[in-house]
This record gives sequence, C-alpha cells and structure tokens, in this order.
Amino acid sequence: MANKERVTFGSKIGVILATVGCAVGLGSIWRFPYMVGSNGGGAFLLVFMICTVLLGLPIMITEFFIGRHSRRNAAGAFKELAPGTQWSLIGYNGVLAAFLILGFYAVVSGWTLEYIWQAMTGSLSGKTTAEFTTDFETFSSSALRPIGWTIVFIALTHFIIVSGVEKGIERASKIMMPALFLILLILCIRSVTLPGVDEGLAFLFKPDFEKITSSVVLSAMGQTFFSLSIGMGCLITYSSYFGKDTNLQLTAIQVTVLNTFVALLAGIMVFPAVFSFGIEPTAGPELVFITLPNIFEQLPFGNIWSFIFFILLALAALTSTISLHEVATAYVHEEYHMTRKKAAWIVSIGVAIIGALSSLSFGLLKEYTIGGLILFDALDYLTAKIMMPIGGMMICIFVGLRIEKKVLKEELTNKGTITFYFFNTYAFFIKYIAPAAIGLIFLNELGLIKK
Ligand code: PFF
Repeated sequence: MANKERVTFGSKIGVILATVGCAVGLGSIWRFPYMVGSNGGGAFLLVFMICTVLLGLPIMITEFFIGRHSRRNAAGAFKELAPGTQWSLIGYNGVLAAFLILGFYAVVSGWTLEYIWQAMTGSLSGKTTAEFTTDFETFSSSALRPIGWTIVFIALTHFIIVSGVEKGIERASKIMMPALFLILLILCIRSVTLPGVDEGLAFLFKPDFEKITSSVVLSAMGQTFFSLSIGMGCLITYSSYFGKDTNLQLTAIQVTVLNTFVALLAGIMVFPAVFSFGIEPTAGPELVFITLPNIFEQLPFGNIWSFIFFILLALAALTSTISLHEVATAYVHEEYHMTRKKAAWIVSIGVAIIGALSSLSFGLLKEYTIGGLILFDALDYLTAKIMMPIGGMMICIFVGLRIEKKVLKEELTNKGTITFYFFNTYAFFIKYIAPAAIGLIFLNELGLIKK
C-alpha cells in the first residue's frame, strides 16, 4: 500500500472522536464496575489509576508514535519500521486479540439491545431487585434470544464496516458522546441521593490495602489495557490516519482523561445503588445490567431514561466494535489480498461463531470450562490480562530497542514545533520501567516472586 499518501482524518475533532469512540465503550461502563466489584472496591480503583497514569498513558503515546510514523496498519507498521524481522508478531497478537475480544464483546453489546427492547415494551419497570436479577439471568442463560441480539449487533458492525459509513457514525457521536456523559451524570446524581450512598462511595473510593493481591493488580492492569484499547494495535491503526499536525501527547492525555472520567462516573452511578438495593458487588458480568434498572425505577419516566441510556450505551459499544472489526478486517484484506467485503464477511462469520459459543457458555455450555472459566470469561481473561499486556510490553521494548531517540522525539514533537515536557523520563520509562513492571506483575501472579 502506498504509505505516504494515506487519507487522514478530516478534522481535529474527528481524530479525537474516533479515538475516544474506540476507547470509551462497554469497558468503562460495564466492565469497570464489574471488575471493581469483584476485586475489592477501592483497592482495585487505586491500582487501576496508577496503571492508567504509569502504563496506559505512555503506551498510548508510544502506539500513536508507531502509527503515525509508519502510516500502516497494526502488523504492517512493524514491517515498515523494522523490515525483515519478527517484530510484526506484535501486530498478529493484536489482530488475534481484536478477533477474540469481539467474540465476547458482541454478546454484551447484544444485551444492550435486549434492554433497549425491554425499555420500549415497558417490561423494564415495575419489578423488584430480585426480579430484575432473575429475569436477567434467565435471559442471558437462554439459548436463542441473546445469540439473536449478538448476531444483530455483529451485522450492524459489519454493515458499517463494508459500507464505509464510519464518517456518519463519527458525526453522530459528536452529539451522542456528550449526551452519554450527561445521562451518566444524571444517573450518578440519582444514585448518590439514594439511601446507602455512603457505603457505596466508601466501597469505591476507600482502598483497603489488605485487598491488593497479585490477582487484583493483574486485573487492574488488564482493565487499563482493555479500557484504553492499548497493547493490540488498534490505536496504531487509528493514529496512522492522524494528520501531521495532530498533537500526539495531548490527544493521548485527552483520551485517557475522558475515558477514566467515564469509568469513574460509571462507578459512582453503580455502587451507591448496589448497596442501596442490596445487590452483591461481586455479581460479575451482570452487575450493571441488574443495577441500572433499579436506578431507572427511581426516576420519573424511568422507561424513557432507560431507553435513551441503552441507546447511547449501544452506540458507545458500536464505536468500539467497529474499531475491533476494522483491525481484523484490514488485516485479512491486506494480508490475504482479498476484497474488503470478503474479508469483512470472514471476520463477521468467525466472530458470530465465537459470539454464539460465548453466549451459550452462560447456559447450555456452562459445564465446559477452560481453567475453571466458562468460555466468555476465558476469552476476557486471555485477551485483557494476557494478550494486551504482552502486546503493550512488546510495543515498549520495540520502540526502546529499535527506534532512535531522536526519531521518537521528532515525531512526538511534530519536528520540534511542540514541546514534550519530560521527554527523557518518558523514553526511559517505556524502555525500562513499563516492560519491567508488566513482567513483574505477570511473575507475581504466577507466584514466582517470593514474599
Ligand atoms: N476500550 C474498549 C472499551 O472500553 O469498551 C474495548 C476495546 C475496543 C478494546 C477496541 C480494544 C480495542 F482495540
């Protein structure tokens, strides 16, 4: 592919929106509260924040460097910057991760469609907390309905990928994203005015240091990678379209701050309500889906609020599934020299199969586990806690070893036209500290570090 003449995003706001769209999604609104709840509350939040600042932000800047400097896709970027070497394996790891993530992410995206449907038909109201819980469990463990919604969501993503209407989505998210913030804020306000708010906020914000175990640290690191979409080349692909004058550092800071802000709002929305309604914080993937309807119940015109909220959540999920699909489709399209349409079909069919199986792992296939985890959880674990951190580690090592500091600095400062404060610290950090920290977190989880 002629790499110097690629199209670039039309506007600065387009760059930010597409990248924010890729990052902000179910990871912050569904996965973050569920991880906080299952990993000891405030202790998890603390480690997550540390990982976000010390690993998330520098790795995002590094991916932006690789993408814009090479102007290629996730695998091609490494071929361009280090021809004839095995570094492109990092890209393949990312492509595989994107494919597997989409396989379980589409299931949760499908759940959001079910909730839109329920809000429309009025069946999301007038129930007790226990009823919301059993109804969700009955739905998610049934065979056909959730698979149907999963396939609808994959079809929607497929349609956007092949018809190239991302521009429309981008434009729509200019309105939808702020709307999502706003509605999250309203739900937070409702949640913090419920009885029991203190317990919920203390659970979220007061770290109990005893709870910081190796697996909590691994989970928090995994959440950072998942939620920021780093370590798998998605941001390499997106930043390959950035313009020459895009401020890479600033964009990374904006995306990280916005994403973390959304996650915090989701936490503030969920936990007071969890304690107020007597829901188990450790409920797992269903946590948000059983908590939210309770909050809507407490609002006037609850059905309308829930309808709007789930539409926005589905859209936030869609901008992420598009980016995941794009990583896999672009790879199949470019690497196997087939049309984009055919490549997209292969990805969609593959993802639909994995999606169906992970949906069934809540019910029919519950007995089939991998390392004690049902398929849905196993895919989540493998991608967020193993593949993405390994990808991030390798990205740092790659830039540390193969890229001259001068070249790195030139790209990140737009040829010296903007300042990069603490550049040397950043360079030292990604070369030594970040890979070592990720490595230690792995060794610690494997029990190879003696206390
Ligand atoms: N960061 C997305 C979210 O939080 O929902 C999930 C995701 C999208 C992960 C794209 C990885 C990716 F490449």
